Amino acid sequence: GAPVEVPLDKLEEGQMVKVEWRGKPVFVVKRSETVVDALKNTTQELKDPESQNIEQQPEYVDGVTRSIRPDVIVLVGICTHLGCVPQHLKETEVDWGGGFFCPCHGSRFDLAGRVFAGVPASKNLQVPPYSYQGNNKIVIG
Ligand code: FES
Repeated sequence: GAPVEVPLDKLEEGQMVKVEWRGKPVFVVKRSETVVDALKNTTQELKDPESQNIEQQPEYVDGVTRSIRPDVIVLVGICTHLGCVPQHLKETEVDWGGGFFCPCHGSRFDLAGRVFAGVPASKNLQVPPYSYQGNNKIVIG
């Protein structure tokens, strides 16, 4: 499949844009500094907080923020349990910090796509290969 370009200049903090890459939904979310700090200092129980499962992200992303640049997260929007498409919930919409909720069996992931303890999914959401083209454009694939 061809690489997919995602312009970032119109993406506001907290917003998500969804694109399709190789037939899969890919979520791009702009994160505030507050959100990034919360991810780094989380007190919530996560199954793989530092992304030890190296199959779930390219080696060039940070293990905690799971991104190249902390303000933008790129994730394949497919639940790692049985493949439903999770919903994006902003940090202001829920009391667990925001992230992604899978309506099929209730798996929850934080705004770095890290899976919470106590849900059926066991792996973090996949980070696809991507790169920056300048400061305001991401190329997925
Ligand atoms: Fe997402 Fe089962 S497919 S929780």
